[in-house]
Amino acid sequence: MSPQASNAASDVASSGAEPAMIDISGLNKWYGDFHVLRDIDLTVGRGERIVICGPSGSGKSTLIRCINHLEEHQQGDIIVDGMHMTEDVKRIEQIRRHVGMVFQHFNLFPHLSVLDNCCIAQTWVQRRPRREAEATAMEYLERVQIADQAHKYPGQLSGGQQQRVAIARALCLKPEVMLFDEPTSALDPEMIKEVLDVMIELAQDGMTMLCVTHEMGFARTVADRVIFMDQGQIIEEAPPTTFFNSPRSERTRLFLSQILGH
Ligand SMILES: Nc1ncnc2c1ncn2[C@@H]1O[C@H](COP(=O)(O)OP(=O)(O)OP(=O)(O)O)[C@@H](O)[C@H]1O
Ligand SMILES: [Mg+2]
Repeated sequence: MSPQASNAASDVASSGAEPAMIDISGLNKWYGDFHVLRDIDLTVGRGERIVICGPSGSGKSTLIRCINHLEEHQQGDIIVDGMHMTEDVKRIEQIRRHVGMVFQHFNLFPHLSVLDNCCIAQTWVQRRPRREAEATAMEYLERVQIADQAHKYPGQLSGGQQQRVAIARALCLKPEVMLFDEPTSALDPEMIKEVLDVMIELAQDGMTMLCVTHEMGFARTVADRVIFMDQGQIIEEAPPTTFFNSPRSERTRLFLSQILGH
């Protein structure tokens, strides 16, 4: 992280211009000797929908996890909604309030009901009164069409239902940006659509979204840009039509031929 990044005074918001929702520049990260992210530059505008794809191990999860500091980076700058990411705990919390995340394996608390899963961060982190938290939870559970399951436990729901709860839980915190890390890849095929439908609706409502996914149909219909990563680098980024119809890089072509099955 650059020295000026530790200075909140360098926040873009203070310049008066409306900042990009996410602005990543010169990002490098190592796990020990392993250089996992290499010179990543990525700007995401407000309301933009980005799909990130690439082979296993290319650094997709690491990249999006750096955005809310679930992973630390060693070089470069990450600015979320005008706020510079630093090591400062308050700053990290401040940024996390703007960023919702949905994981492959839902990560719901198994011992809490669906409703409580959606309330816990609201009451503990955001200090909202319980009644208000419940009303918000029900609003978003309604939105992902699962309000009727609010009193069940995660183990009593299908994978697709659990993932919709996880999306509702993230939305309860009213994020400006949603990060999705392969939200459908642990689901049985018949449940993928119900989760993608929720994500499509979210996109149509104008949510800024970064989705790591290999659902190329989703990428075609929803993404403003598709990003292809390999070996820690962004190899190619383009609007979906260009990306799928005329990829520039040989590596992208090879990946697409494998994933699209021809
Ligand atoms: N905590 C860690 N310590 C060391 N190496 C790690 C760690 N987490 C990930 N890696 C390595 O970093 C590389 C990138 O991992 P990452 O999970 O970001 O890849 P990915 O593109 O999301 O892959 P997948 O498609 O399989 O989810 C991989 O080689 C992985 O083994
Ligand atoms: Mg991953």
